[in-house]
Amino acid sequence: MTTLDSILAGKYPAKAHARRVAERLHASGYGRHGIIYLEAQKTRLIEDNDEAMPFRQRRPFFYLSGCPLPDSYLIYNIGRDELTLFIPPIDPEDVIWSGLPMSVAEALRRYDVDQVLPTSEVNATLASIASVDGSKAAVFAIAGQISEETKFHGFIEMNTTTLKGVIGDTRVVKDGYEIALLRKANDISAKAHIAAIKASRAATNEREIEAAFIAACIAKGARDQAYHPIVACGQNGATLHYGGNDDDLTDPVTKQRKSSVLIDAGAEYRTYCADITRVFPLGGKFTLETRHIYQIVLRMQTETIAMLKEGVRWEDVHAHAHRVAIKGLLDLGILRGSEDELFDKRISVAFFPHGLGHYLGMDTHDTGGNPDYGDKDTMFKYLRVRGCLPAGSVITVEPGIYFCRFIIKPFIESPETNKYIDINILEKYWNVGGVRIEDNVHVTQQGYENLTTAPKAFEEVEMLAS
Ligand code: GLY
Ligand code: MN
Ligand code: MN
Repeated sequence: MTTLDSILAGKYPAKAHARRVAERLHASGYGRHGIIYLEAQKTRLIEDNDEAMPFRQRRPFFYLSGCPLPDSYLIYNIGRDELTLFIPPIDPEDVIWSGLPMSVAEALRRYDVDQVLPTSEVNATLASIASVDGSKAAVFAIAGQISEETKFHGFIEMNTTTLKGVIGDTRVVKDGYEIALLRKANDISAKAHIAAIKASRAATNEREIEAAFIAACIAKGARDQAYHPIVACGQNGATLHYGGNDDDLTDPVTKQRKSSVLIDAGAEYRTYCADITRVFPLGGKFTLETRHIYQIVLRMQTETIAMLKEGVRWEDVHAHAHRVAIKGLLDLGILRGSEDELFDKRISVAFFPHGLGHYLGMDTHDTGGNPDYGDKDTMFKYLRVRGCLPAGSVITVEPGIYFCRFIIKPFIESPETNKYIDINILEKYWNVGGVRIEDNVHVTQQGYENLTTAPKAFEEVEMLAS
């Protein structure tokens, strides 16, 4: 068994998470008495149909339970440090369709909780806690995630507005087990990226590459995707979250293979996500223009990853990526002017219009980043993380350069900014579409640890694609 698999053979550290959330509630000014009440996602049927909708566990519930079962409940008694999981009992009507549900004994063996009871015991358990501690105990729960059948009689306070944010903030700093899950999601995704690049050799349409990626994830143990894969050939790569994935890899007019493919895809492994982007050539060799842009983006990524360390300001890292982009585009002649002026006038935003990255965890765009989408500064407006990065956080580093006519046109047409862009040189680059390179990086006290192993060196990518 690998070290990674042996870590993951242990229990997900739900109890430690419950304690950390309770500590953070306390640090926000709440007393040490109270309960945390969480519900799993319910089984829901597709409208006008008797099939279940695809199931996605609620993240706050999973964080404090490690339990992927639908229709379950959780109570953490903060004062007594006692974590109780409630799982669905046998439904005799359902056994013929679904088999027997997980037993209480099995759940106790699998999950890091103090006791497991059937869901029929939720109200009795709440009543018994209230009868002992209710006069001083508050209930912390999440608005909109509380079943009508659950009764909270006898507690001193019902707080449904604080818990979600507190759990979201706690989730930013990952423990060793969570890093192992993220690494596993990355390992599977790296193999799937390689499979997708190899599949492109014989593929005729974007969807065959997507199919190869998903097939490899499932075969390696990840049935779910962290998000819908983005498989974008040629100019489709200029759309950040392109979702068509059904374009022909050959240009209908020139009958030539398009220059390259951007694939942004990641597996979800036991609710933890990978989020990886690679760009590779069709036909084995990058075109000269794509190669130019790829080299700039790779430099943007290498230099910004090297800056990562506990306490670094994410805005500074993002700004550095822009400076590298400006230098590169100046060297190519696409931009004109001085580096400082181009930076101050925010000209590079025309080519790199999104934030450098976001926290990653149980959500692809994970919680706790405190974005400021109202920021008037176009360079920082879309940054999904603001402020300093703590050790233990995991962040994507995903610089990109895109040739999107809709975004670049206003810069060319404005008399204030058109002098900075050489449209004759730009003309040669539209076919590049977009280049983004995205890795998932664990921030540590000393520096960082890159969790992403998918190949990105120029020659390696060309070799895989040919
Ligand atoms: N895959 C979505 C993103 O990179 O943010
Ligand atoms: Mn991302
Ligand atoms: Mn991505």
